[in-house]
Amino acid sequence: MTTTATATTYKNFIDGEWVASRSGRTFENRNPANTDDLIGLFQHSTAEDVHAAIEAAARAYETWRLVPAPKRAEILFRAAQLLVDRKEEYARDMTREMGKILNETRGDVQEAIDMTFYMAGEGRRMFGQTVPSELRSKFAMSIRQPLGVSSIITPWNFPMAIPSWKIAPALVCGNTVVFKPASQTPLSALNFVKALTDAGVPKGVVNLVTGDGPDVGTPMTTDPAVRVVSFTGSTTVGRIVNEASAPSFKKVHLEMGGKNVIMIMDDANLELAVDGCLWGGFGTTGQRCTAASRVVVHEKVYRAFVDAFVARARTLKVGDGLLDETEMGPSNSDPQLQTVMKYVKVGQDEGARLAVGGHRLDRGSLAKGYFHEPTIFVDVDPKMRVAREEIFGPVVSVIPCRSLDEAVAIGNSVEYGLSASIYTQDINRAFAAMRDLYTGIFYVNAPTIGAEVHLPFGGTKNTGNGHREAGVAALDVFSEWKSIYIDFSGKLQRAQIDVEQI
Ligand code: UN1
Repeated sequence: MTTTATATTYKNFIDGEWVASRSGRTFENRNPANTDDLIGLFQHSTAEDVHAAIEAAARAYETWRLVPAPKRAEILFRAAQLLVDRKEEYARDMTREMGKILNETRGDVQEAIDMTFYMAGEGRRMFGQTVPSELRSKFAMSIRQPLGVSSIITPWNFPMAIPSWKIAPALVCGNTVVFKPASQTPLSALNFVKALTDAGVPKGVVNLVTGDGPDVGTPMTTDPAVRVVSFTGSTTVGRIVNEASAPSFKKVHLEMGGKNVIMIMDDANLELAVDGCLWGGFGTTGQRCTAASRVVVHEKVYRAFVDAFVARARTLKVGDGLLDETEMGPSNSDPQLQTVMKYVKVGQDEGARLAVGGHRLDRGSLAKGYFHEPTIFVDVDPKMRVAREEIFGPVVSVIPCRSLDEAVAIGNSVEYGLSASIYTQDINRAFAAMRDLYTGIFYVNAPTIGAEVHLPFGGTKNTGNGHREAGVAALDVFSEWKSIYIDFSGKLQRAQIDVEQI
C-alpha cells in the first residue's frame, strides 16, 4: 500500500515550470476500484496560483497569437503522435484514477489523439469568408481571430478526451490556456499537458492548475483577463460558471447534463437494440453525459425486450477495469456511488419495479471499491424522478409506450437535450424522430453514445447554452470574426447611401 509519505507529488504547470501551489497543500488521488491504491498527491491550489497562471497565459498570448496557424498546428501534430506512442501508459493511468475499463480508457486517449490530429489539420484551413462587396473596387472578407486567455474546466468521466476537445481548438486558433481538470482525474490531465509541452508548446501557452471549484474555478471565471470559458460538467455547476463569467462578458461555452433516450419501435431488431441499451446504459458505468438512461419501448415488443435486456445485464462482469475480463468498472467516487444508491431508493419509493441490480457490490475483491450492480427499473412512469433526473451511474429506466408520437413526447419531456436514438427498420419513422427530438445529437439503430470528434457535439435546453464543441463548431467557440473591407478604388466610395453604383 502506498502511503502519503511515499506517494509521488505532482505539481502545477505555470509559465513553463512545474511548481508547487503557494498553499503548500495537496490532495490525494485514489483508485476508485481499490482505495488502498494511492495514485499520487496533487496541488491544492489557490486563487493566487490561478492568477499567476492567467498572467503567464496573457503574456504568452502576445507572441502565440502571431505564430502562423500552420506552425501552431505542427506542434499539435507532434503532440498527437506522442499520445499515440504513450497510449497504453496513459490509458492505464486513466483506468487507475477514473475506473472505466481499459478498452474504454484506450478509447478515451484515442479520442484525444483524433481530436488533436483533426484540430492540427485546421491549422491549414480555419476557413473564413470572402464575399463580394456592394461597392466597386472594394474587397470584403472575414477572418477568425483568437480571443485571448481561455479557461478550460473539465470533468472526470472523459479525463483526456474532453480536455483535448477544448485545448486543441483553443491552441490552433491562437488562444492560450489555463486548465483546471476535475480533482478525481488530474493525472490524465497532467499526461495530456506533458504531451503538449514535450511537443513544443511554448511556455505560458498552456497552464495547468489543480484544485477545487471555489478556489480554482472561481478566479478562472471572474478574472477580466480571461476572454473565453469552456466548461463541461453538471448543470448546477454550469449555472455557477455562467453567472460568474457574465459580468465581464466572457464568451462561455457550457456542456452539461443529459437524460438521453433510446426509443425502440415494434419493428426494431431487438437483439441489436438490447446490445445498444447495454452499451449505452452501462458503458463507462453509466457515467457519460450521453448515457442511455431511459429506454422507451413499444408495448408490442415490451416484454420480449425487457426479458432479454434484464437477462443480459445480469451477466455483466463488474470489477477492476484493469482486468481483461471486466465489463463494467466502479463508480468514480464515493459521492457518485451514494448518488446511485440514493436513486435506487428514490425509484423504489416512487413505485418503479426493480428488475435487476439495485445493490452495492462490496464482497471479496470488490470490498475496497465503489462498485454497484447494473440496475434496471421497468414499468417506469416518465414523470418519476428516475426517468427525469440525471443519475450518472449504472441505472436505466425502461418506459412502455404505444406509438412513435408517444415515444417522442416522452423523449422530449425532460429538461435536457443532448442525445437520442431510435431503433426501427422504418425509414419514415427514423427521419420523423430525427426531426422531432429536440437534442443536439441523434442516432438511428445505434445507442446514444459514441460521438465522433469531427462532428459538432452538444445539446439543447439545460444541456447547453447554444454552442457546440468538436467539429468545426469548436472553432466558433475559440475564435471570433473580424470583417475586413479593402477599398482599392482610390476615391471615397460611400456605402449605405442610395445612389446608383453601376
Ligand atoms: C461525455 O459523456 O461527456 O459520445 C462525453 C460519447 C463520447 C463522449 C461522451 N464520445 O459518448
